[in-house]
Amino acid sequence: MMARIKIDTDRRIGTINPNIYGGFIEHLGRCIYGGIYEENSPLSDERGFRKDVLEAMKSLRLPNLRYPGGNFVSGYHWLDGVGPKDKRPRRKELAWGVIESNRFGTDEFIEYCRAVGTEPFLCVNLGTGTPEEAAAWVEYCNGTDDSYYANLRRANGHPEPHDVRFWGLGNEMGGFWQICAKNAEDYAKTAVEAAKMMRWVDPSIKLIAVGALSYANPPSWNLEVLEKLAGYADYIALHIYVGNSDYYNNVAAPLVAQKQIDLFNATITVALTDKKVPRTEIAMDEWNVWYRTFGSELEERYNIADALVVAGFLNVMHRNCATVTLANLAQMVNVLAPIVTNGRGMFLQTIYHPLKLYRDHCLDVVLDAFIDSPTYQSKIFGELTSTGEGTPLETVPYLDVSATTVENAARLVLAVINRHKDKAMKTEIDLSGYPPNSNGVVYEINGVAAEAENSFDEPDKVKTVEKPLRGVSSKFTYSFPAHSVTLIELTRI
Ligand code: AHR
Repeated sequence: MMARIKIDTDRRIGTINPNIYGGFIEHLGRCIYGGIYEENSPLSDERGFRKDVLEAMKSLRLPNLRYPGGNFVSGYHWLDGVGPKDKRPRRKELAWGVIESNRFGTDEFIEYCRAVGTEPFLCVNLGTGTPEEAAAWVEYCNGTDDSYYANLRRANGHPEPHDVRFWGLGNEMGGFWQICAKNAEDYAKTAVEAAKMMRWVDPSIKLIAVGALSYANPPSWNLEVLEKLAGYADYIALHIYVGNSDYYNNVAAPLVAQKQIDLFNATITVALTDKKVPRTEIAMDEWNVWYRTFGSELEERYNIADALVVAGFLNVMHRNCATVTLANLAQMVNVLAPIVTNGRGMFLQTIYHPLKLYRDHCLDVVLDAFIDSPTYQSKIFGELTSTGEGTPLETVPYLDVSATTVENAARLVLAVINRHKDKAMKTEIDLSGYPPNSNGVVYEINGVAAEAENSFDEPDKVKTVEKPLRGVSSKFTYSFPAHSVTLIELTRI
């Protein structure tokens, strides 16, 4: 059967907020130390930043970067990580069971963000930390008065404020694994007090409240948190890690994000119905494929199937651009990461390529694409350690599409995933009378097999290949190869 994709440049869903292309780095395994930061390495600059990693980060054009955790932040006192490096305390770190040297802290992170060209996003400690400590951190970063913490920043060599706009109100506080985990009521009480104090220091900051974790909390978590934080929480955090060793289950997994987004949106509507406050938006501030590695390193090796999952997540975010307005791939270097280092160099994992491709080529206005594709039956996994027992089979289309354009529709980009493991998908693409130039461009991420991975020895086994596309008209056919991500870029005559 021939598949069909039909789009109409007048049928628009909304506009993508570029903040969905954000990243995340945590004091975890080799993400910071040995990843982005390696003092005294010949590969690092005078600040200790790994130059090769910095270039790879820059190339992704991340709009924002979340830090310092993750689970780590629930036991982190930010004052440990400022001032002269040799005087900073070495602490026993309880989230991941290691010793934290604190040689990389707030000022180094801000400097790193400036070097990458991205906006900092700090997450505060609402585990062992207090609202007062969180507000002091805002003052340290953003304060302009002649006051203690603003002066401390100046004394540490930063006369100008760091101007941190995004602030997370804790991390995954409803998870039993979190340092000083809380129930929804206790979390909401602490988060409101922290939000009040942080906003009194700087009214312009944007706050992200902790949302329910599908594998740990009932949806009532969100109801309690959204009601109590109405008017404070600009966003509610949705964390999603997916993955499965079965290829077809794995590539279907981003569809769990759609279910979670629907659930979050329904709860936001209910919680805020009678409240005269702006609608809380969704921040998918941790998302990725994660199912192979556990412990304290989390160095997942990614293959082509995982690149399809990452592209699938981005397609879901595009289709939900009206409510998902911030997102952070977790994480960036070594830990669940697109960039992998050792003492001699680095390589890019398969998942790096869809991130860069989408950021560089997808446009901002999302179209409501009609897709008629053959389907398969799959279990859709949204839980880290799920065995799938009891999970029902669901219908999954082989093709998954994001269609984007610009305001005046002069350009058009179709991002198409073919989940079929063995077969190309011949597809009729109907642009509803849109007159494209007959020459377009195709970008394809693929490899010899769905299991293909990159490595230090073979860094370019999987990459983006650019090809010319000829003979395009307002209705044309294209064959999407098995296990591939394809972007078709068109312009109007
Ligand atoms: O990204 C790895 C971990 O996953 C983070 O520390 C935590 O927030 C989540 O459970």
